[in-house]
Amino acid sequence: MTGKKEMPTMSRSTEDMPKDGRQAVGIDDISVYVPGLVLPLTGEFSQKRGIDPGKLVKGIGIEQMAVPDAHEDAATMAAMSLLDLMKRSHIRPEEIGKIYVGTESSTDEAKAMGTYVIGMLEKVYGRGSFQECSTVEFKAACIGTTFALENLSYWLAGEDEGKIGVVIASDVAKYPLASPGEYTQGAGSVALLLKKNPRILALEQIYGSFTRDENDFFRPMGCKTAVVNGKHSNQCYLDAVIGAFDSFAQRAARKGAIVPGEGQCVTDFIDHQLFHIPYPRMVEYASAAVFRHDWMKGSQKKEIEGEIGPEPKAQDFRDPAEYQAKEAAYSRSFARSSQFLQVYSAKVRDTATLSRKIGNIYTGSIYLGLASLLELERLLAGQRLGFAAYGSGCSALFFSAIVQPDIGSLPRRGLIERLEERRQITLSDYEKLHEGMMEESLVTPEMEFALSKIDHQGYRHYEFVD
Ligand code: HMG
Repeated sequence: MTGKKEMPTMSRSTEDMPKDGRQAVGIDDISVYVPGLVLPLTGEFSQKRGIDPGKLVKGIGIEQMAVPDAHEDAATMAAMSLLDLMKRSHIRPEEIGKIYVGTESSTDEAKAMGTYVIGMLEKVYGRGSFQECSTVEFKAACIGTTFALENLSYWLAGEDEGKIGVVIASDVAKYPLASPGEYTQGAGSVALLLKKNPRILALEQIYGSFTRDENDFFRPMGCKTAVVNGKHSNQCYLDAVIGAFDSFAQRAARKGAIVPGEGQCVTDFIDHQLFHIPYPRMVEYASAAVFRHDWMKGSQKKEIEGEIGPEPKAQDFRDPAEYQAKEAAYSRSFARSSQFLQVYSAKVRDTATLSRKIGNIYTGSIYLGLASLLELERLLAGQRLGFAAYGSGCSALFFSAIVQPDIGSLPRRGLIERLEERRQITLSDYEKLHEGMMEESLVTPEMEFALSKIDHQGYRHYEFVD
């Protein structure tokens, strides 16, 4: 037993991807919008809620929570991330063929959020400037944006007029005050520019999927906060991600993209592994589950068993509860094994950097993980990224993408510095905002989109405040 695992860094050429002469499609740029207000979770919050700050920082993995101001909602945040994306990448409105919005924080049961977003953008670019751009809203809890990305990438592959596509994730994650879900809230938006010959990531167009009807997390019509069965939701997440991983592994082998040799595992071919991030600790649970599941089929099994012993087997236990307890203990030992910890810190840990100071942004969280890797300059051309998206209800999608040679040509986003500039708010102000009782914005909007009124019919009016 060496205790050290070889970390294969595969250098992959993407020039010939896809192999049938079509151009690669993928993520060309990414923009992140986070509200300017922040609630630290280790001070007044943990004191007044009677929670040990150590539980929040270590047990949950979260330090701060982004809070939208009174003039913000999921549509203003989406418009902000899109505006930034267009400015960063010098995009004109007429170049954008489709804007797909993934959200579970929609303000309307019928009207697509993208129409509000286009209305806001036209206040900057001129009325009618997005007239030929179509927009659809994707709702599938936290996986909505990933389904939007999958769909848009197929449209883009067949697009022949030189148009580009945008996928926007925008959400306000909201649970009842003083509930166990409260410290996993957050808010923000991510806009992804999808193009042929992308600068950041070429999608390999291999999607492994898993779906099952579950009651882990949902928000019935009219409810402002989610109904969640917390512990059950963690288990649904793990089952779904493992199911999608197996589906991906089979499809990747059939396509000849990842064909593990004797003793090799699928995860050996993945350089960075991203997961949906409801809270950073969940990424640790999920990666332990996926790596354990994968390694037990390869040569790592012997090394792992050398360190923590063999896996418990259901058939060896008469009492299912005893088996479950042994299984939970084995999972914990695996998560603490030197083999896993080494791979976790090399391939997974840094994806949660931004989430620790923002919280759950639901459907954009996995792409916040990508932004974390970009901010930390962890991506190298030729590396393969695995994405494990999860949405309650429940579905998972596992897909892969290859880092492109032009990755270094993009301007920096300075997200880590921007988070430091946010205004810290009191628990009382946060509670008023949470309950919709704050009449005036805490920070007067400037150079941003703002909700100005909701009229007698319920139509929302937005403006660009300069
Ligand atoms: P909880 O009651 O806070 O959990 O609920 P806990 O008491 O088990 O504590 C969590 C960890 O903190 C444990 O670690 C404790 O030991 C540890 P573990 O034993 O697992 O290693 N801990 C401490 N550590 C250090 N110092 C201490 C201490 N005390 C305890 N003093 C839960 C947590 C996530 C369930 C809750 O916050 C919740 O319900 N959140 C909302 C639901 C959620 O996020 N689910 C995640 C999976 S579902 C999903 O991802 C989809 C979603 O994004 C929605 C969508 O798809 O749209 C939510």
